[in-house]
Amino acid sequence: MDAEQWTARAGEYAMRVERFVAPHDYPALGGEHAYAPDMELRGKRVLITGASRGIGESFAHAFAGAGATVALVARTRDAIRALAAELEGTAHPADLSDPTQVAALVDQVEEEAGPVDVLVNNAGIGAPAAFTDAPDEDLRQVTQVNYLAPAELCRKIIPRMLGRGGGHIVNISSMAGCSVLPGLVSYSASKAALSHFTAGLRADFRGLPIGTTLVELGPISTDMLAQIDEYEPTAAAFRRFYRMHLAVDVARETVADEVIEAVQKGRRHVRIPKRMAISSLLSEAPRRGTEVMLGGVPNQVK
Ligand SMILES: NC(=O)c1ccc[n+]([C@@H]2O[C@H](COP(=O)([O-])OP(=O)(O)OC[C@H]3O[C@@H](n4cnc5c(N)ncnc54)[C@H](OP(=O)(O)O)[C@@H]3O)[C@@H](O)[C@H]2O)c1
Repeated sequence: MDAEQWTARAGEYAMRVERFVAPHDYPALGGEHAYAPDMELRGKRVLITGASRGIGESFAHAFAGAGATVALVARTRDAIRALAAELEGTAHPADLSDPTQVAALVDQVEEEAGPVDVLVNNAGIGAPAAFTDAPDEDLRQVTQVNYLAPAELCRKIIPRMLGRGGGHIVNISSMAGCSVLPGLVSYSASKAALSHFTAGLRADFRGLPIGTTLVELGPISTDMLAQIDEYEPTAAAFRRFYRMHLAVDVARETVADEVIEAVQKGRRHVRIPKRMAISSLLSEAPRRGTEVMLGGVPNQVK
């Protein structure tokens, strides 16, 4: 069997495992079980962080295209203002590496734009480097932008959503949160934290009208991916994945379309590309196992 056939077979096994572990993604198997109520996006407000470019910009177009009003957050004021004007949304410049700005953001957006129904924690950073050679600020900033800011935004917004009858959280994580590549130590750790955090939210709010979607991505062609070539060990690791056909080019618009559908249908996972799903499924197994074992144990004080 050559490498092409081997990877095709591996991809097919990964899909089989996914059908077993996540049957809700496969309606034909009778498993169309939404973990949150279906959400009609028309007339809803969606707060998207990191909307100035890359995948976040595609989210802005896709959610607006689905009839939602978008509230856009990033540091680059001109970019989010122009995009908000084009999509008839609102722009809220903020630096998520600053905890004070993060703490004030939900108040600020809801005062300026109105109540938020869907939060998309998309902003992320992670230039590859040797862990001990990275700038002093790197570890704190990566952890702050990729994990602490999304977690704090959830902490602030969920009580408001519940007070209004419900809402949905989308956390944009990475396959690097399941497996680790050279040069991405802080990045991978922050994404692992975000993925595990999302599972924690799911457990805490089980039975309440807060949906969560964890999005685990392989390489998507954006400014962030272009940085990979700056550090040879990371670049070499990516080249290997491409050669093994585990990594494939996926358009950021495809990511946006899959996430929109997941929010509309209350799905709790988006894994792209599917052929990489196996590492995500293995990471998910103990979380799902614990959920099953704790069936019937109260998750909130009544
Ligand atoms: N591209 C990939 O291959 C890939 C793979 C797996 C996961 N992801 C995840 O997907 C998400 C989007 O990545 P991308 O590829 O679209 O990256 P990107 O093109 O570099 O865009 C990153 C976005 O985050 C914003 N951002 C960065 N630092 C910020 C800060 N301190 N405060 C506020 N906003 C900030 C940027 O806006 P400003 O610079 O204007 O602030 C920009 O809008 C990230 O969470 C990333 O980890 C990407």
